[in-house]
Amino acid sequence: MPDEPQDQATPRPPRALGRKTIRPTLTPRELITPTPDLKGVWKAKVITLFPSAFPGVLGESLTGKALQEGLWQLEAIDLRQFGIGKHRNVDDTPAGGGPGMVLRADVLGAAIEAAQAGVQGHWPLIYLSPRGKPMNQALMRRLARTEGVTLICGRFEGVDERVLEQYRVEEVSLGDFVMTGGEIAAQALIDATVRLMPNVLGNAASVEEESFSSGLLEHPQYTRPAEWQGRAIPDVLMSGHHGEIARWRRAQSERITRERRPDLWAARDKPD
Ligand SMILES: C[S@@+](CC[C@H](N)C(=O)[O-])C[C@H]1O[C@@H](n2cnc3c(N)ncnc32)[C@H](O)[C@@H]1O
Repeated sequence: MPDEPQDQATPRPPRALGRKTIRPTLTPRELITPTPDLKGVWKAKVITLFPSAFPGVLGESLTGKALQEGLWQLEAIDLRQFGIGKHRNVDDTPAGGGPGMVLRADVLGAAIEAAQAGVQGHWPLIYLSPRGKPMNQALMRRLARTEGVTLICGRFEGVDERVLEQYRVEEVSLGDFVMTGGEIAAQALIDATVRLMPNVLGNAASVEEESFSSGLLEHPQYTRPAEWQGRAIPDVLMSGHHGEIARWRRAQSERITRERRPDLWAARDKPD
């Protein structure tokens, strides 16, 4: 039977998806639920001038499904709301001169105070910044064990340094390059953290075996067809011999890590 035409004007009844009731008409933006909190559910609060950039890619696939099911929560806090005056100004020229604009300490400070009001337990406050410590899997594991995290997305030339000192903000970088804002870095951090939480990935074993889980990069992966463009899948993977497959994968992981990331190879098996 062909699908019935959808009447866009008629609201469809709520559909229960796990712990939350979600209307099928919800747009990704509406998945961000500032209130009420789901008690005991990990939450990312993101202070940004572009709240409409969230959930962005986090609303897709496994992280999106987990968000719908209430396995984690997201709140985008619009920095503009804390702006000064009729035009809600959030930035000003750099003290001492120079190009560009800097996010004001009083504006960002008010947003941080609002974000942190009422948070309980271990709740890191992080500024996404090219000056920060590079993100790695150890950071994601640490964040996945917290109650939640508040992320500050900079724009323009960055933020007034006094805010970072006042609130003892941790600085974290996506890599040694400069982007126009912290939103993409925030989404990368949230994605890598949320996928470590119980029940977010269908197959928990994939977290245990993937790159960085044991300080090594992952071995090569193959799937059907058995031969493609004259290239065959390595015989050992087709042998059905689990012990040999595990040994082959381990040797490949070690070779790839040694060749590509001598820094990881040197640091393997040391505690985070
Ligand atoms: C144009 S950047 C500011 C760069 C700053 N003037 C500097 O030289 O360090 C604007 C914002 O983008 C974000 N950003 C840029 N590159 C980033 C990176 N590699 N990792 C995390 N955040 C980044 C930060 O939030 C930053 O405040």
